[in-house]
Amino acid sequence: MMNNVIVVASGKGGTGKSTVCICLSTALVKQGKKVLLIDSDSGMRGLDIMLDIEQELLFDASDAVCGNCSFAEAVYKSRRNDDLYLMAAPFDAENELSPSVFRQLVDTVRDSFDYIIIDSPAGIGSGFVTAAAPADRALIVTNAEPTSLRGGVKVRKKLESAGVKDIRLVINRFDKKMFKKLGFYPDLDAVIDASQTQLIAVVPFSVELSAIIQRGEIGVGSNSAMEVFDRLARRLDGQRVPLII
Ligand SMILES: Nc1ncnc2c1ncn2[C@@H]1O[C@H](COP(=O)(O)OP(=O)(O)OP(=O)(O)O)[C@@H](O)[C@H]1O
Ligand SMILES: [Mg+2]
Repeated sequence: MMNNVIVVASGKGGTGKSTVCICLSTALVKQGKKVLLIDSDSGMRGLDIMLDIEQELLFDASDAVCGNCSFAEAVYKSRRNDDLYLMAAPFDAENELSPSVFRQLVDTVRDSFDYIIIDSPAGIGSGFVTAAAPADRALIVTNAEPTSLRGGVKVRKKLESAGVKDIRLVINRFDKKMFKKLGFYPDLDAVIDASQTQLIAVVPFSVELSAIIQRGEIGVGSNSAMEVFDRLARRLDGQRVPLII
């Protein structure tokens, strides 16, 4: 499958990359896609908790590469979604994969999935370079504030020089009232301008969503923010669906 390896990155930490990865993957699965999520945040993994399979993990990506297990054994089925799978980042940061090894790893599994979503560590360090190496496309997750956006621009430049062509912006944790009150930008257009990146989704601030994700309960109930991810999934799939803001 071409062009469906997507890295989710950000300049600053905590903008919501892992949350976006989980919600987007869930939305893609709902639309009939088979999805592999790769946690690429070595030493700081979190997706296993968010998918409620923390207890089941025995092997991580570095085990598959070293031959401690087969590739299949390093891929775990999520508890609540039959077509959603996870490959965990190396449990120890010192086992971080090199960009070329990670690219080879993704190449071995890419034909088995409709989408591969890679959760990058924040910033433009070695972990990010590895996470981005196999990517055809990227989502930059930012909050509507200056430091977060500046980080996003740096990440975009790195992605571009690494040859990733299709780069889109996700503005996360957006709260209209708070945005007005803070007054960093007159409107969302100014945020998009500052990001220098084409917008693909605006995710509302939602305490409810945050709680669902942290409890590993994605897919159990419904949440209004999920509508945004359904649309994001369709837009990534090339469908013409309007944004909701
Ligand atoms: N749309 C949202 N509304 C409310 N809270 C959110 C939203 N998105 C993320 N959060 C919360 O923000 C915090 C950081 O989110 P998350 O872990 O997804 O960020 P991250 O970018 O992966 O962080 P890191 O850089 O540490 O990997 C979490 O507590 C999460 O629940
Ligand atoms: Mg994260």
